[in-house]
Formats: sequence, C-alpha cells, structure tokens
Amino acid sequence: MAVAASRALLLYTVAAAALLFPAVVAQLSPNFYRSVCPQALPTIRRVVKKAIDDEPRMGASLLRLHFHDCFVNGCDGSVLLDDTSTFTGEKTANPNLNSIRGFDVVDKIKKEVDRICRRSVVSCADILAVAARDSVSILGGPRFTYQVLVGRRDARTASLNDANNNLPPPFFSFSQLLANFQTHGLDFTDLVALSGGHTIGLARCTTFRARIYNDTNIQTNLASSLQRACPLTGGDNNLQPLDGTPAGFDTQYFGSLVRNRGLLHSDQELFGTGSAASDALVRLYSGNPARFAADFAASMVKMGNMGPLTGSNGEIRTDCRKIN
Ligand code: HEM
Ligand SMILES: *[C@@H]1O[C@H](CO)[C@@H](O)[C@H](O)[C@H]1NC(C)=O
Repeated sequence: MAVAASRALLLYTVAAAALLFPAVVAQLSPNFYRSVCPQALPTIRRVVKKAIDDEPRMGASLLRLHFHDCFVNGCDGSVLLDDTSTFTGEKTANPNLNSIRGFDVVDKIKKEVDRICRRSVVSCADILAVAARDSVSILGGPRFTYQVLVGRRDARTASLNDANNNLPPPFFSFSQLLANFQTHGLDFTDLVALSGGHTIGLARCTTFRARIYNDTNIQTNLASSLQRACPLTGGDNNLQPLDGTPAGFDTQYFGSLVRNRGLLHSDQELFGTGSAASDALVRLYSGNPARFAADFAASMVKMGNMGPLTGSNGEIRTDCRKIN
C-alpha cells in the first residue's frame, strides 16, 4: 500500500474510533447518554420526583449522597458499596454512620433506568450526580435547574479511612473548612455556595449539641428552643431542620446565618466569625437568589468533576451496592 494511502487509512481509523468510543475522551459531558440511552436522564428525574413526593426530605438525602461520594476519592459511586465479610465500604465511617440515607431510592433509579435503557449503561456515580441536580431542581424550581455533566464510571474500591479523613465534620472552624475544601481543589466561593446545600434537610441532635449549649454566636431564642428538642443527654437522633424551609431550596439558609440562626457550628462559621469576605458573600446570597443559583450550579459542576473514572477505568455496576 502506498504510504499516503496507509496514512489516510490510519487517520480514518483513529477518527472512526473516536466517534465509536467517545469514552476514550476522559471528560464528562451533558450528552454522554444521548445516543446510547436518550431516556436515561428523564427516567432518573421521574423516580426522584416520585421519591420526593413520597418524602420531601429525600431530596436532601440524595444531594448529600453525591457530596459524600465526591469528597472521598472522587465521584465514583464508592459511597454506595455495602460492607461484606471480605469488603469494607464507607457506610460505617463517622460522617456516614446512622446518617446518610437514600440507598433504596438509588436502587430503584438503577433498576428503572436499566429497564428503560434495556441494559446496564448508566453508572451509579452518574445516578448520584443527576439525582442531586434533580432534587435541587424539584425543591427549588427552574432557577435552581442547572445542566449536569455525565460519563462517570463506578469504582471497584472504597475507603473507610478516607471517608473518615476527607469529609469535613460539623465542629470545624472557618479556616479548617476552607483548608478541607482546598484539598479537594475547591475554593472559598465553592465553600460558601456549596454550604448552601444546607438550605434543605435535617440534622441529628448529636451533630449540633455542642453548638446549642456552648457556642455564644447563636440567637438566644433559637438556642433555648433547640435545647428543648435536643437534651444534654439522650435524644441523639432527634432531628431538626437545617434552616426554616427544609423542603425548599432557597436562600433562607444564608438569611438565617446573618441572624445567628445557623444550626451547625460549621454553618455559623461562615458568618460573623472574622472573615469579612465570607460575611459579604453570605449577605449577597441571602438577598440574591439568582446569584446563589448561578454560583451553586457552578460549584456543583466543579465538585461533580472531582476525580471521575472515565474511559476504560472502573466499571458500570449492575448493582450499585456491589462491584460486578
Ligand atoms: C461545609 C462542610 C459541611 C459540613 C461540616 C456538613 C455537615 C453536615 C452534617 C453534620 C449534617 C447532619 C447529618 C446528620 O445529622 O446525620 C449534614 C446534613 C446535610 N448536608 Fe452537609 N455538611 C457540609 C457540606 C455539605 C455540602 C457541600 C452539601 C451539598 C452540596 C451538603 C448537604 C447536606 C444535606 C442536604 C444535608 C441534610 C441531609 C438529610 O436531611 O438527609 N452538606 N451536613
Ligand atoms: C461544652 O464545653 C465544655 C468545655 O469544653 C465541655 O466539657 C462540654 O462537654 C461541652 N458541652 C457540650 C454539650 O458539648
């Protein structure tokens, strides 16, 4: 074969391979499932909507699952893996134990999306990213509906230690929170915007007890009513809303921080503790839903881009709770 012809053939082969196997491009995209299963994303949204109709808190629980997935070695579905006699997952790590929830809903989504797509093509890591976006959108409306990127694959490993070490605890100070986010490649704006995830959902007494008995930067009325709901001993699992509208994705969380009504110590660290920049951003978001929506969306996309497995790395799990 002539050199020119063989070179042309090689070029053609490379181009065809790139078209046939877009996964070789190690990047997430909004269109990853467009040809392989166009109904994938609408199907996920339908199951999430039904789950939130059944229990409004589920939207918060699904959003948090994606966060707890991404902060532990990237958004790779590792948080979903069950413990077995030969495998230790992340579910018993301190930040997760008796705390993260929504696994049954993830199982339902996976079953339904595999049925609609007629095979297992959608990763569990992508299901978490899409379910988080849909939860925010359903509880916040069109303003909070952002474009989600997909194309992640699922891990064959998990790390209990990394789950214990990489997720920020609620007793962290502002500078500790910022340092933690920076180790994940996230910045100050990401910290404040993503903490806005606490505009939905509930927390257990054990996560805010130290704050309501010992912190001084808490509104007196709030402290006394929370102390009735969360005694010094007992009632560890009593639940309280993270802001005044725990089933509405809005800017109330930031308004509550300005009035010293943050539920977690880590929430209130974002306002009035010495960072003028953080005070200003909290004030800005509290009165500017459009700005919060835009920044939250950008930070969610950034968080969702953390260490994804793509190409031929990892796998597409058939059961989100175990490796294939
Ligand atoms: C900034 C550092 C963060 C800390 C220290 C923190 C800590 C916590 C704690 C202690 C709880 C209560 C857990 C329980 O009582 O079982 C909680 C709940 C929650 N967190 Fe965070 N979190 C942080 C960031 C985030 C981020 C970035 C998101 C999402 C974007 C998020 C979303 C949620 C949601 C939605 C809930 C309520 C879950 C439910 O009701 O099931 N958090 N968080
Ligand atoms: C309040 O602080 C004191 C002193 O550090 C500590 O002994 C106590 O356990 C704290 N109370 C709560 C409810 O965390």
